Amino acid sequence: MKLSPFRLLAALGAASVLGLSSSAQDAGNSTRKVTVTDASFDCIRDLKPVRGYYVGNLLGDVDATVKAAEASSSSYPVGSVVQLVPTEAMVKREAGYSPETNDWEFFELTVTGKTTTIHVHGSTEVVNRFGGNCLSCHAPAKKFDMICEQTHGCSPIPITPVMAKAIQNTDSRCEPVALPPEQVEALKQLQAMLGAAAPKQ
Ligand code: HEC
Repeated sequence: MKLSPFRLLAALGAASVLGLSSSAQDAGNSTRKVTVTDASFDCIRDLKPVRGYYVGNLLGDVDATVKAAEASSSSYPVGSVVQLVPTEAMVKREAGYSPETNDWEFFELTVTGKTTTIHVHGSTEVVNRFGGNCLSCHAPAKKFDMICEQTHGCSPIPITPVMAKAIQNTDSRCEPVALPPEQVEALKQLQAMLGAAAPKQ
C-alpha cells in the first residue's frame, strides 16, 4: 500500500505524540511541578474521605494518594492534598521543595461563601490563626509523612473528631447537608470555645 505524504506525516505525528506521552509517564509525577492557586481548593467533601480527613491529588493521581493515606505511608505522592478542615491544607510539592517539611507546603485558607483565597502558605514558617506553627505540631509524625491523626505523636488540637465532621459538613462551598444532633452540639461547643479564646480587647 502506498502511503500519501499526508498520511505519512499524520502517522509520524501520532507516533511522536505517543512517544512523548510515554516518556512523561516514565518520568513519573515526582518530577512534575505542582502549581497551587486559589482554584486548587474547593468543597472539602469533593475530596476522598480517609478515616477522619480528606485527600486528593492536584496532578490527578488520586488513587495513589488514597492508597498512601490508607496505608499510613511514610511518603505521599507528589501533588497530594490533605485537609481536615476547609481552612487548612497540606500539598505535597515536587522533590526538593523543602527537606524540613518532607516537601509539604502548608496552607491557611480563607473560605467566604463559595470562594477560597490562600491567606498564608509556605514551608517551615506557616502559622495558623491561633499562632501555632504547622510544622512544629506536625513534625513528630515524620515517619507518617507528617500526617498527625490522633495517634502519630503530634501535639493535640482541641477539635474532636465529631467537631471536625461538623466543620466538614458545614463547608459553605459544598451543597448543604442536614447535621445529626451530635454534630449540631459539637458546633455549639466549638463556638463557645472560639468565643472564649477570642482576644478580650
Ligand atoms: C497545635 C498543633 C497543630 C498545629 C499548630 C497545626 N496542626 Fe494540623 N493537625 C494537628 C493534629 C493533632 C491533627 C490531627 C487531628 C485529628 O485527626 O483529630 C492535625 C491534622 C491536620 C491535617 C489532617 C491530616 C493529619 O495530619 O492528620 C492537616 C491537613 C493539617 N492538620 C494541616 C495543618 C496546617 C496547614 C497547619 C498550619 C496552618 C496546621 N495543621 C497546624 C496538630 C496541629
